[in-house]
Amino acid sequence: MGTKGLGPVMVITALLLVSMCGSTNAATKKKVCDKGWECKGSIYCCNHTISDYFQTYHFEDLFSKRNSPVAHAVGFWDYNSFITASTDFQPLGFGTTGGKLTQMKEVAAFLGHVGSKTSCGYGVATGGPYAWGLCYNHEMSPSHSYCDSSEYVYPCTPGAEYYGRGALPVYWNYNYGAIGKGIKVDLLNRPEYLEQNATIAFQAAMWRWMNPVKKHQPSAHDVFVGNWKPTKNDTLAKRVPGFGTTMNVLYGDLVCGQHENESMNNIVSHYLYYLDLMGVGREQAGPHEVLTCEEQEPFNPSSPSATSS
Ligand SMILES: *[C@@H]1O[C@H](CO)[C@@H](O)[C@H](O)[C@H]1NC(C)=O
Ligand SMILES: *[C@@H]1O[C@H](CO)[C@@H](O)[C@H](O)[C@H]1NC(C)=O
Ligand SMILES: *[C@@H]1O[C@H](CO)[C@@H](O)[C@H](O)[C@H]1NC(C)=O
Ligand SMILES: *[C@@H]1O[C@H](CO)[C@@H](O)[C@H](O)[C@H]1NC(C)=O
Repeated sequence: MGTKGLGPVMVITALLLVSMCGSTNAATKKKVCDKGWECKGSIYCCNHTISDYFQTYHFEDLFSKRNSPVAHAVGFWDYNSFITASTDFQPLGFGTTGGKLTQMKEVAAFLGHVGSKTSCGYGVATGGPYAWGLCYNHEMSPSHSYCDSSEYVYPCTPGAEYYGRGALPVYWNYNYGAIGKGIKVDLLNRPEYLEQNATIAFQAAMWRWMNPVKKHQPSAHDVFVGNWKPTKNDTLAKRVPGFGTTMNVLYGDLVCGQHENESMNNIVSHYLYYLDLMGVGREQAGPHEVLTCEEQEPFNPSSPSATSS
C-alpha cells in the first residue's frame, strides 16, 4: 500500500526536475563564437584559439630533431597537421578551456605525452634527451600483430596488423576500432593511415586525450583542466586534478603507483621541457603530488591483486 502510493509522487518530482533544468539552461545560455576555420560554433571559441599562443616556431622548438637524418619519420610530422587535427577538438575545449595559462599548459601536457611516446632521444643525444619527440610514427619491430581474436565489436581485418602507430601510439584492434569510430576514419580496416597521414595521427591522439578510456570515468582532458571533481574514493587513492592523473587515465599502473617509474618520469620531463620552451615555465606545473602519479592508485588496475597491495 505504502509503496504503491509513491508512484505518482515520483512522477511529479521527475517532471518538476525536468522543467527546472530546462529553464536553467535557457537562463544560462552562453554565447558561441566563430574563429574562422580553426574554432567554430562553440563557447570555447570565444577565447584564444591554439594558434593564438602556439605557433609554427613553437612546434619547431619543441620537436627540433624530428627531421634530423637519424630520425624515423623524417618529413612526416608538421605544425599544419597538428592545427588541422585540433579543429575538431578546439570547439570541445581542447586547448581552449579556461584562461591562456590553462590553455597553454594543456597543449604542453598533451604534447608532453606525445613527445615522450614518440621520442628516440636518450641521455647523450645531441640537443638533450627531450629534443627528440616525434622521431617515430610507428613501432619499429613489432613483436606481434596485436590482434585480439576474442573481440567481437571490432574484429581484426584479415592481414591487418595493429601494432603501435600514431602520436599517442594506438595498439590492438579494439582500440583502432573505437578510435576510428570516434574520428570517423576506418582505422580497423586501414590501420596504416596512422603512419601515413599526420593529421589523422594527431586526430586519433586528441580523441584519446578528450575521451574517457572507460565509461563513467574522466578523460585526460577533464582531469587536467579541472572539469573532473574527485570523489572521496579518488581522494583516498591520491588522485587529484592535474598532470599526474592524466598519466593515470592513459596508462594506469603501467606507470603510476610505483615510486620513480622511468616511463612516468620521462613523460613528466617532456611536459616540463615543453612548458619552458613555450615560455610558460616549469614552475607553473604545480607541486610534486599534482605533477606525478607515483602515489596514485590506478583508475583501472590491470590485475585484481594490484588493488589489494
Ligand atoms: C574564457 O576566458 C576566461 C578568462 O580567462 C575564463 O575565465 C573562461 O573560463 C574562458 N572560457 C571558457 C569557455 O573556458
Ligand atoms: C589526411 O587526412 C585528412 C583527414 O582525414 C584528409 O583531409 C587529408 O586529405 C589526408 N591527406 C592526405 C595526403 O591523404
Ligand atoms: C569506493 O571504493 C570502495 C573500496 O575500494 C569500492 O567498493 C566502492 O565501489 C568505491 N565507490 C565508488 C563510488 O567507486
Ligand atoms: C616503469 O617504467 C619502465 C620503463 O623503464 C617500464 O618498462 C616498466 O614496466 C614500468 N612499470 C613497472 C611496473 O615498473
